[in-house]
Amino acid sequence: MIRLAVPTIEKDDLEAVCAVLETGFLVQGSQVVAFEEMVANVVGIRHAIAVSNGTAALHLALLALDVRPGDLVVVTTYSWIATANVVELCGAQPVFVDIQPDTFNMDPHKLDETLRRLMSVSSTAKRVKAVLPVHTFGQMADMPNILEITSYYDLPVVEDAACALGASWQGRQAGSWGVMGCFSFHPRKAITTGEGGMVVTNDSSLARKLRILRNHGLDPDACAPEFVVPGFNYRITEFQAALGLTQMSKLKRIVIARRKLAKHYDELLKGSLLKSPYTPEGSDPVYQSYVVLLPEYIAPHRAELIAELKRQGIEAGIGTWHMPLTSYYRSRYGYRLGDFPATDDVFARSLALPMFETLSPSEQEKVVRAVMNLISEMD
Ligand SMILES: Cc1ncc(COP(=O)(O)O)c(C=O)c1O
Repeated sequence: MIRLAVPTIEKDDLEAVCAVLETGFLVQGSQVVAFEEMVANVVGIRHAIAVSNGTAALHLALLALDVRPGDLVVVTTYSWIATANVVELCGAQPVFVDIQPDTFNMDPHKLDETLRRLMSVSSTAKRVKAVLPVHTFGQMADMPNILEITSYYDLPVVEDAACALGASWQGRQAGSWGVMGCFSFHPRKAITTGEGGMVVTNDSSLARKLRILRNHGLDPDACAPEFVVPGFNYRITEFQAALGLTQMSKLKRIVIARRKLAKHYDELLKGSLLKSPYTPEGSDPVYQSYVVLLPEYIAPHRAELIAELKRQGIEAGIGTWHMPLTSYYRSRYGYRLGDFPATDDVFARSLALPMFETLSPSEQEKVVRAVMNLISEMD
């Protein structure tokens, strides 16, 4: 079977985890601190706070901004459901903004329209607390434009960079653009700690809040234990952090390999009916997933196509989720097909192809051949 995603786990990763397990010190030690420092250095930012997963990272980021019941958070439509769920978990409401059909990222023009609408009425303007773009599939959203729009209203931007560690825009790293950036180390990301996440920020007071909230509300700067707010246990373990350190040492290599694989897919798909992912000038993605668009007439048969690929030993998947049309958001807010036309189209037509460091060119050729053959049979 050619898997959709395979984490790169090597001997040094296994040894690092075992070495920590043998010490018996499994939480809140030097590995977490070293992992945080390494991520902060790579992203080029002052503070990094390791947490138990990417969802926890996003949740804490919004709580650190004091997002509360009744508030509004402006968020992209097309993402893993955690991006919208964390807004609801703060008791706030997501206001969705449609995507660009080619990059799959939040459309800055639509963000502009949405903010003009919300900010022109004082009762809604005061409820808007943050903007949450996603760097979809490891390609950065158009942060220069997004920040230009949000700075007009003085709104903080939290980057959902769950898939994008190592990605950059004009040389500046994902996660370093907004007031906070949130990463995930789930096994489908370029590097993994099993479950794991990180919030990065240059703001010392936000960093302090995040450290308090991730550890039961315990003040990290007090001499004696002081519980200053009701916090969570969103900590990562020492052995996960040890794995994070060895994984981080391979990040560059893994990203280079994924870019090479993406280029090979691009070449194989040139002139075909499948639309390969678009990369704007200045953007350096990490290809957390390689997602193509199927021709429109194939979209209704996508499940069949994925099932047939599986029968042929190839794992493929949909891109990600149309969050407003999932059961909860659809029933709570009444969203319908047509509300977000670009997302409607991309959600129906996306197909994620296998992407992992050790995927071989001949496996890629097999994948593309199989998809093309099936499409021509469905024609
Ligand atoms: C865009 C996005 N946001 C948030 C998350 C949540 O991360 P985690 O699975 O580590 O909680 C993911 C993860 O899969 C993601 O892809």
